[in-house]
Amino acid sequence: MLEDEGCAAQIRLACVLLFVILYSIHFLYTDHYLLNAAKYPRSKEEELMKPYYYANKNPMDVFSFTLPTEIVYGPGVLVRLPEEMKRLGCTRPVIITDAGIMKAGIAERVKDLLAAAGYEFIVYSGVEANPKDVNCEECAGMARAFGADSLIAVGGGSPIDCAKAVGVLLAHNADKIKPYEGKTAATKPQVPLIAIPTTAGTGSELTFSAVITDTANHYKMTVKSPFTAAKLALCDPELTVSVPPMVTASTGVDALTHAIEGYTANCGEPIADAFALYSIELIYHNLEKAVKNGADLEARSAMLMGSMLGGMSFSHSDVASVHCVAESLGGMYDLPHGMCNAIFLPYVMEYNMDYCVEKYARVAQAMGFVFEDAREGAKMAVQAVKDLCRAVGLPDFRSQNVKADDFDAIAERSAKNISTGSNPRPMSKEDYLEVLRMAYDA
Ligand SMILES: NC(=O)c1ccc[n+]([C@@H]2O[C@H](COP(=O)([O-])OP(=O)(O)OC[C@H]3O[C@@H](n4cnc5c(N)ncnc54)[C@H](O)[C@@H]3O)[C@@H](O)[C@H]2O)c1
Ligand SMILES: [Fe+2]
Repeated sequence: MLEDEGCAAQIRLACVLLFVILYSIHFLYTDHYLLNAAKYPRSKEEELMKPYYYANKNPMDVFSFTLPTEIVYGPGVLVRLPEEMKRLGCTRPVIITDAGIMKAGIAERVKDLLAAAGYEFIVYSGVEANPKDVNCEECAGMARAFGADSLIAVGGGSPIDCAKAVGVLLAHNADKIKPYEGKTAATKPQVPLIAIPTTAGTGSELTFSAVITDTANHYKMTVKSPFTAAKLALCDPELTVSVPPMVTASTGVDALTHAIEGYTANCGEPIADAFALYSIELIYHNLEKAVKNGADLEARSAMLMGSMLGGMSFSHSDVASVHCVAESLGGMYDLPHGMCNAIFLPYVMEYNMDYCVEKYARVAQAMGFVFEDAREGAKMAVQAVKDLCRAVGLPDFRSQNVKADDFDAIAERSAKNISTGSNPRPMSKEDYLEVLRMAYDA
């Protein structure tokens, strides 16, 4: 009896060993992609279509992904605002907006919806472009005096970022926003923020950051924290139809920059990459249409979706040197953010070229280009960005009358930006000076 059992155990062990040996042989001598990365791709066709993880990261890398903002999207969804507020328990909101949104009649529509539903609210319409620290601080004071329990941001990135900063000030019972600069200072849950974007650009309705101008130093600081994220993004493409052509162009290239930098930043992850590539496709094929015919609701809808995806991408990855230098220039000269990005995007891509040829080739694929090898594709992506910026009428660097004496300060601030470390090519002040010269001499 015991002999039989011993025999059976030996047979079982032999079977297991045989299986392990056969499986190992199969694993080593077949084209298992994890062991044979060097063998892939084997042809030019496969080179172009090689799986995403060779151009990016190992599929086994560890990362986490959180999207705390609920999205309600679609033409006409603005009318759902009162019911969404009720659902979220918002009773005394501050509407935070700017003069352009008041003039376009959008703020009036929001006010009418809230009044009809019986809500008490106040309006702060003093947000300036490149929102200033003083705007946030003034609005927070009003919100506190009113006893606000929620915030409704209506506008482009400027009102949405201002509202996020107001949320930080209320949550921390603080008067000044400067101490909350950086990635770790805002640590407390905020009152619910409903973000209603009216531009297709920043994606701020879905990001974890607010870009606020430090008026004492003429410098744009970033307040970054998951706590700043909106509770709800009410994304109605109809609200973007009234955006003037030049603002459509500059905000659209801002969105494209988010997607390209979100995809190529050295801290990316696969979900952010997926968002970025579809964002690039949507924006590349729709921006010119939206600029040339603002009433084209299909193009406007695709642009808003593209900017949302770009925002989700870069807030889970990061922006990089285009934004660093654009924010330095924008902070010093108070220039539109998207326009500053457009000035530098192709030149930073050229400067980064050797550090992310394959990723830029993927960008070109998302734009719809066909090419023979990755470097050719990468160059097509750079040229396509240059052509697009020209086609939508965005100006070049030289036309902005930036003093050559300021290049040094712009480069220095860019190098200190918290996103410089995310650029695929390491960037020092001297590297930024080189990019400034490339853009200026183009
Ligand atoms: N928080 C983020 O994640 C993030 C990302 C990128 C950029 N930003 C910041 O966002 C700001 C820029 O935001 P933006 O590019 O959306 O521009 P913006 O909010 O400054 O708006 C630009 C102009 O367009 C007008 N406008 C907006 N919507 C309109 C509409 N529907 N009809 C008519 N006029 C309209 C505004 O009144 C304003 O005059 C910058 O400060 C930038 O640094 C933030
Ligand atoms: Fe941006």
